[in-house]
Amino acid sequence: DAIPLVFQPFTVKDLTLPNRIVVAPMCMYSSKDGFFTNFHLVSIGSLAIHGPGLIIQEATAVLPNGRITPGCAGLWEDAQINKLKEIVDFVHVQGGKVGIQLAHAGRKASAKAPYTNHPESAFWRDNVVAPTGGAAFQWDENHVIPRELSVEEIQEIVQAFGSATARAAQAGMDTVEIHGAHGYLIHNFLSPLTNKRTDKYGGSLENRARFLLEVVRAVRENFPAEKPIFLRVSASDLVENVEQLKNEPSWELQQTIQIAQWVRDAGVDVLHVSSGGNTALQSIKAGPLYQVPFAEQIKKAVPGLHVVAVGIITNGVQAEEILTSEKADLVAAGRGFLRHPNFALNAARDLNVKAAFSQQYSRGRTTHS
Ligand code: FNR
Repeated sequence: DAIPLVFQPFTVKDLTLPNRIVVAPMCMYSSKDGFFTNFHLVSIGSLAIHGPGLIIQEATAVLPNGRITPGCAGLWEDAQINKLKEIVDFVHVQGGKVGIQLAHAGRKASAKAPYTNHPESAFWRDNVVAPTGGAAFQWDENHVIPRELSVEEIQEIVQAFGSATARAAQAGMDTVEIHGAHGYLIHNFLSPLTNKRTDKYGGSLENRARFLLEVVRAVRENFPAEKPIFLRVSASDLVENVEQLKNEPSWELQQTIQIAQWVRDAGVDVLHVSSGGNTALQSIKAGPLYQVPFAEQIKKAVPGLHVVAVGIITNGVQAEEILTSEKADLVAAGRGFLRHPNFALNAARDLNVKAAFSQQYSRGRTTHS
């Protein structure tokens, strides 16, 4: 019989993924001054030898003050390229593909890493930035009060996305994913909950999306034209049913659909559809496949844009159903890969596919019995 869709190759631009299972980006809090380390090589490497179609490396800051924690990765200087290239080369030898998520954490920056105590000097408490600053925009008591970005600084961040992209290209990355989700800087600009600016970066949807579109163009210009660009978004702030915010405009699916068209036209090839993270008041009903309907609606509304579904997708049968019913083009898993680096092999077993799990043991291509 035919090979299940999950294990058929997927091509976007000149990139062909060996299958349609993606490792979602996940912070490791294991960088030193933004530099990737052996922890990354080993953990990304261990994923790569177990056959996912694409690995997207963690949120990687384009500027030092854009890191979520002092342990987060960065790509703001050329010296940071070397270790990354080592990781990319390893994945490629294994027949895998790898991308990197480029990010600026905005008001959620300078936070404590979950497992380690960095000294006070490792933080940047006076330089946490947001579209709109002040006490009302402090994320929580473990974060500092952000200050408002000037237009000049916004331009510097756009340029930093471009330079970090050029470095990712030098490392040999197969794709770059722009982090526009989860309440980090780009999402802060998009959402009227967190963007109260009155200049050209605030107000109308077009103005709130201006920063994102400038970032998209800077990334596109600095990445080889034949390689695809991903963008991760939160499809909604998830506050439709929150009493306190009943009269406040927020970020919603219809706006996401509108900007999805704009970013497609500006050169984004794949939209990675997540949700939430911009306000602590959000009401999330997380459960199996809970974000898939967002991916599906965006895919239907925006022809020509490929879509990744993510969020509690835990087995091959679910993944196959999502793809065959055309709700998404790719499926991603995060925690599933932390539990089992061989998540993709388990999915293959679920679907009765023989998938090679590392270059060392591969005797040919994927087969289906
Ligand atoms: C994440 N997630 C995440 N998302 C993102 O866009 N950039 C990131 O760096 C991280 N970091 C991160 C770390 C850890 C430890 C977890 C568990 C999650 C979110 C992740 O990519 C994914 O969207 C969610 O985990 C939902 O998918 P799963 O885990 O239900 O498959």
